[in-house]
Amino acid sequence: MVTNQPWPGRPADSDLAEPVPAIELRHATKRYGEAVALDDVSMVIQPGEFFCLLGPSGCGKTTTLNLIGGFIPLTSGDLLIEGHTVNDLPPHKRNVNTVFQSYALFPHMTVAENVAFGLRMEKLSKADIAQRTREYLELVGLSGLAGRLPAQMSGGQQQRVALARALAKRPAVLLLDEPLGALDLKLRKQMQTELARIHRQVGTTFVFVTHDQEEALSMATQIAIMSNGTVLQQGSPREVYDRPANRFVADFVGDTNFLAGTVRRDGGQAVFDVGSAVVDVQGDAEAGPATLMIRPEFLALRQGDATDGPRGLTARVVNVAFLGNHTRITVSTAAGEMVVVRPHGTRDSTADTQRELGEEVCVWWRTENAALIRE
Ligand SMILES: Nc1ncnc2c1ncn2[C@@H]1O[C@H](COP(=O)(O)OP(=O)(O)OP(=O)(O)O)[C@@H](O)[C@H]1O
Ligand SMILES: [Mg+2]
Repeated sequence: MVTNQPWPGRPADSDLAEPVPAIELRHATKRYGEAVALDDVSMVIQPGEFFCLLGPSGCGKTTTLNLIGGFIPLTSGDLLIEGHTVNDLPPHKRNVNTVFQSYALFPHMTVAENVAFGLRMEKLSKADIAQRTREYLELVGLSGLAGRLPAQMSGGQQQRVALARALAKRPAVLLLDEPLGALDLKLRKQMQTELARIHRQVGTTFVFVTHDQEEALSMATQIAIMSNGTVLQQGSPREVYDRPANRFVADFVGDTNFLAGTVRRDGGQAVFDVGSAVVDVQGDAEAGPATLMIRPEFLALRQGDATDGPRGLTARVVNVAFLGNHTRITVSTAAGEMVVVRPHGTRDSTADTQRELGEEVCVWWRTENAALIRE
């Protein structure tokens, strides 16, 4: 059930004028002997965000979450929750709660008892516990299954119970470490939609760990991309996708083509020499070696070489992969670079998607859809 009712405990918008960050890391470092799991990270997570920590295996995502949860101590630096330094506070005294990938439900307790368990620890009255348990089971869509045991439920349902149990305590921050990792792809997508809906409804700050860029893009309001114990970029999904700070981010978030070349001034205009071709680049780009980044969906193909129409690259079609809902066309440029094109399009025979192997084409794009990267 989706309602637009304000959820209990959700702050009024007027209280959010100058929010105290939900989480703040200041020069946070975590070492294991010589190994640095988190390297001088400073990061602010605002209240109400669906904040995704995204990065490849071993980059420090779980370490960051465990530091916030209080399960491991910082080596140096500070951690603040709602404006208070909590470096030395044990997990149960922090206003955060965690949903683990393994769900960690009590197998001998019913669904309702699992949700009520955490509330009993808080010494709420019986009536309040029953009321809150009902509320949160309804929130996750499990009202009808309150009397079941975890073993009698699917993985997705168990995940919802774990979520209800964690949220029922109304923490300021909910930590989730790859909670959908054990689910099959279809269920995973359903739960992504559900999680986003639940987040909107409760307004709690979510800090969500994933190595799946599509998952992060689809749910997050903010994403921090991590690599080797550092944060490379933090921003909205659109910002990190459209304006990646560097090559690693561009490559990790979505499919990308990179064209190596040199920026040169041609009169007042900056142009980009790429192999034997020249293309336009945006604005007052500095002269020198650079890489041009273009997403496959921003590329278009037209028949023939690049001598007429907007400037582009002459190339040859080397592969056409039909993937059901879209087609991926790989072309090889005169300089020998492979470029992947994802045409929009229909299936009619004149469309971009209908290309012959070996055909000569011109790959072109709108100047504003290509970004220069300097590293
Ligand atoms: N208890 C530990 N002792 C020694 N090294 C550790 C320990 N825990 C983590 N590390 C190291 O710290 C680094 C970061 O680990 P972390 O678990 O945070 O990665 P992650 O981003 O969560 O990766 P994954 O996606 O595989 O879960 C890794 O190099 C890891 O080997
Ligand atoms: Mg991890």
